[in-house]
Amino acid sequence: MSAHCPASRDIPRRTVESFRENGFAHVPRMLSAGEVDSFRTASLAALSAHSKSDDAGATRIISTEHVWRADGPLRELALHPRIGAFAERLAGMPLRVWRGDVLLKEPRRSARTNLHDDETFLPFEGRVSLTAWVALVDVTVERGCMTFLAGSHDRPGPDRVGLPALSADPDGYMLKYWPGLNWNTRVTVPLRAGDCTFHHGRTGHMAAANTTDEQRVSYVVALIDAEATYRPVSGVDVPGELTPGQRLPDDLYPRVGA
Ligand code: SIN
Ligand code: NI
Repeated sequence: MSAHCPASRDIPRRTVESFRENGFAHVPRMLSAGEVDSFRTASLAALSAHSKSDDAGATRIISTEHVWRADGPLRELALHPRIGAFAERLAGMPLRVWRGDVLLKEPRRSARTNLHDDETFLPFEGRVSLTAWVALVDVTVERGCMTFLAGSHDRPGPDRVGLPALSADPDGYMLKYWPGLNWNTRVTVPLRAGDCTFHHGRTGHMAAANTTDEQRVSYVVALIDAEATYRPVSGVDVPGELTPGQRLPDDLYPRVGA
């Protein structure tokens, strides 16, 4: 699989500006058509081998659990040099990969993804965290593409609220604790197969249900400041035996480009 790794100068300035200003950026054609085909095949095989469904979260997303930790194409996708190069350029600092998983919304059997930010679940403390969401099929609005609250990563108010606040009001906690977000512009971003979005860990986002006749297949890669430390979040498991405040070990949390 060829993975062209762009030099910093090949990453459009407007992509970087969009990420810094809006807390998300759309990158068309992150993967080639050949890569999309082979990563989609690997994703569907991984889902049928072992997956869990998010009935509790009510999105009915079917996902793998840290599938990238096994060797194979889905590890290759999590450590894809082009994704890593974009992520570090957008973040403006060295990063580590800590998650890579397939997300599936079944045709006509899914629900919408609540408005949330990923940092609420984040078991680390760092200067930045971000997620690459890679479309492995065309993801239109009707197939459940994401909507972002532009600029919400840069909000005043509490730094974080705990998971209990989210559990008490999964769709409303962001607007409750940060009421100014009611007025942020919402941007819906359909993706063609091979496109991806990057969103900041503090950016509010949600997604529609898949009301089409075809599966919504995507892959998420989560990245964190290379200097981040472990900060336990009750109910969120992390790989490795970490103690609070510990830097993340290179073997389990590889540096981008390593
Ligand atoms: C989704 O795929 O519907 C949501 C993904 C995310 O929250 O990052
Ligand atoms: Ni999210």
